[in-house]
Amino acid sequence: MQRGTFVGTYCGGRGTLVRLLCFTSFVVASALVLPVALRAEVEVTDFGKTADGKAVKAFTITNSKGVVVKLISRGATLAEWRVPDKHGKMDDVIFGFDDVAGYESKDNGYFGATVGRVANRIAGGKFKIDGEEYTLAKNDGPNTLHGGVKRSLDKVVWNGKPIKNQDGEGVAFTYTSPDGEEGFPGKLDCKVTYLLTNKNALRIDYEATTDQATPVNLTNHTYFNLSGAGSPTINDHELMIAADHYTPIDATLIPTGEIAPVEGTPFDFREFHKIGERVDQLNDQPGKGYDHNFVLNNQAGKLALAVKLHEPKSGRVLSVFTTEPGLQFYGGNFLTGAKAKGGKTYAYRSGLCLETQHYPNSVNEPKFPSMLLQPGRTYKHTCVYQITTE
Ligand code: GLA
Repeated sequence: MQRGTFVGTYCGGRGTLVRLLCFTSFVVASALVLPVALRAEVEVTDFGKTADGKAVKAFTITNSKGVVVKLISRGATLAEWRVPDKHGKMDDVIFGFDDVAGYESKDNGYFGATVGRVANRIAGGKFKIDGEEYTLAKNDGPNTLHGGVKRSLDKVVWNGKPIKNQDGEGVAFTYTSPDGEEGFPGKLDCKVTYLLTNKNALRIDYEATTDQATPVNLTNHTYFNLSGAGSPTINDHELMIAADHYTPIDATLIPTGEIAPVEGTPFDFREFHKIGERVDQLNDQPGKGYDHNFVLNNQAGKLALAVKLHEPKSGRVLSVFTTEPGLQFYGGNFLTGAKAKGGKTYAYRSGLCLETQHYPNSVNEPKFPSMLLQPGRTYKHTCVYQITTE
């Protein structure tokens, strides 16, 4: 715990009685004033151990509005986000588990994790850089999904440090992925910084550097249900995505290379639509529902609004801003009732992910913006998730 470390800095060098009185008034004053003041501190606690004995830390941040964010160091994972609805009722609106064993179980569909080195799919688990071929483990039919099998970034334990600036409080996580880890070339130094502001925005800044050319695509895999995690569906949520185009996929969910207009398709979210309105048209299509990359209209690398998600009953609104060119909208089609935090279960299509990213399989698709990071350059990506009410 890092809270309250300044206790005892008042009243030094006087008599015992004075010290006692002073201490008593400090305790009384603390009870009245400090709970509010201290809320701004990041609380660091032990979250448990991984199966191979590594300690996992939890970091709890409470902003001036009483909004709570919890992060854990396994996978630099967003584990909890408690926000008020339009009546002030607090709910945790994201998926997660109560312990490390839950996160290590097969029920964990990358809940809240930082995903990489290359989020999303690489066709055939293969790619070439300067004529040299690299082969990865396949974990999604014929393809590699979300950075590999054992030491992808969602599964390793990161170093976490509380941070603070004029906008809010947060945690900076760092991890160095050695050359060849999960088959990727080059040593990759990664940093993911979360910052919770008093405007209920959670800003995520990604940075990475390498000593050899290597593909990089980091993202966050939080599942949201704005009625509260564990609520039965996201089909009643209204979604807007600032994308005129999307990338159609083949039977294994690899983009065909085409950049297709959303106009006249169930992918047209340029105006708000309920997710459930057209999703069943996709039941027999690859992905079995929404699991597609949207080509965001903002291709300038500047932070801009990409998504708005509105849940009418709670009045909660999630806005997503990003510097990235793409967004994977995954509608929870593979959820099958995982038992999770607080005894809740996560049913089919009861959570959705909005993963800001480069397009899937970009490393093999010259028509897409490149995800190759060169030595001497810094990979940078910002994503802001903000939850408000209307
Ligand atoms: C991604 C993929 C989905 C699925 C989930 C994890 O977002 O696009 O197909 O694999 O991760 O279950």
